[in-house]
Amino acid sequence: MTLVLGIETSCDETAAAVLEDGRRIRSNVVASQVEVHAPYGGIVPELASRRHLEVIHPVLDRALADAGVGLEDLAALAVTVGPGLVGSLLVGVSVAKAIAFARRLPLVGVNHLEGHIAAAFLESPTLTHPFAALVVSGGHTHLCHVPAECEYRLLGRTRDDAAGEAFDKVAKLLGLGYPGGPAIEREARGGDPRAIPFPRAVFSDGSLDFSFSGLKTAVVHCLRDLGRAAAPSGAPPLGPQQVRDVCASFQQAAVDMLVERVMRAARDHALGVIVVAGGVACNGALRQALKAEAEAEGIQVVVPSPALCTDNAAMIAAAGAVRLRRGERAGWDLNAVASLPLC
Ligand code: KG4
Ligand code: ZN
Repeated sequence: MTLVLGIETSCDETAAAVLEDGRRIRSNVVASQVEVHAPYGGIVPELASRRHLEVIHPVLDRALADAGVGLEDLAALAVTVGPGLVGSLLVGVSVAKAIAFARRLPLVGVNHLEGHIAAAFLESPTLTHPFAALVVSGGHTHLCHVPAECEYRLLGRTRDDAAGEAFDKVAKLLGLGYPGGPAIEREARGGDPRAIPFPRAVFSDGSLDFSFSGLKTAVVHCLRDLGRAAAPSGAPPLGPQQVRDVCASFQQAAVDMLVERVMRAARDHALGVIVVAGGVACNGALRQALKAEAEAEGIQVVVPSPALCTDNAAMIAAAGAVRLRRGERAGWDLNAVASLPLC
């Protein structure tokens, strides 16, 4: 039995997990900072790193306790080294290096996006390469061809906002709070997705890139128009049904863009499996729409359960376990890289 301790602090979740033999989650602890950043409507990097410092040790203790093991039982450590907020990443990297040094344990650095994709193997142990992978989160919208273990070919990425960022910004415009994705999805359930014909960006060169800023601007204009229609003198808050319709129509446009690109990628590269990961993969409308389209063409869709879609350390331990098995080891010069590319 091999136990790997995973540590994740790339953004606003402090997370630690113990993984057995690369697949079995013995513990998976996530301390969210949502209440720290909510008053600001987005993540404040300085506050994020400070909170990581405050909670990293209790989170590690809890992960070990939940797994029923001590540091002496570990075989290795895996830590997120990027991409992310550098001050946040450094907390995890420093703690991981200190434990590895003190306990003479092997250590490996993990790309956060590779971690998100690795969550699919925790969910679906029978998953095999090759597949198309869509990573959609607050900071990233990446579409990759994954032909084999640890190999990634970039097929498309966002040219402006990340998908989750668009959900967060639209939620902020509507006064729905942070994080915006779950709030938009909740409101959208009671709305009409065809109420407002928001634009779906496509590139004339056939690129598989994404763009969400035009959609966000269209929402800004729509809110201005609806506000005027409701009361020409000012900008009163929209009625509850208008909010639900805006959310449903925005969500439908975002989902349509994501599904169109990933289906085209799977067809173009003759891939029979699509993996979707990252916080936006929690979205029920996206999961349903993609499953319906893909299954109609005999393509399998693997989406981790919501707890494994949002940032967590089990996915980092899973990606790290693969690299450790392949003999990869980090030196003491391991460092955080804010804009670390996946491919
Ligand atoms: O993967 P994640 O936890 O952190 C990053 O690596 O960014 O993703 C967080 C993002 C946020 O933008 C949040 O609004 C979005 O995922 N998100 C959702 C949903 N749940 C979380 N977006 C749409 N629908 C959801 N249900
Ligand atoms: Zn993430």
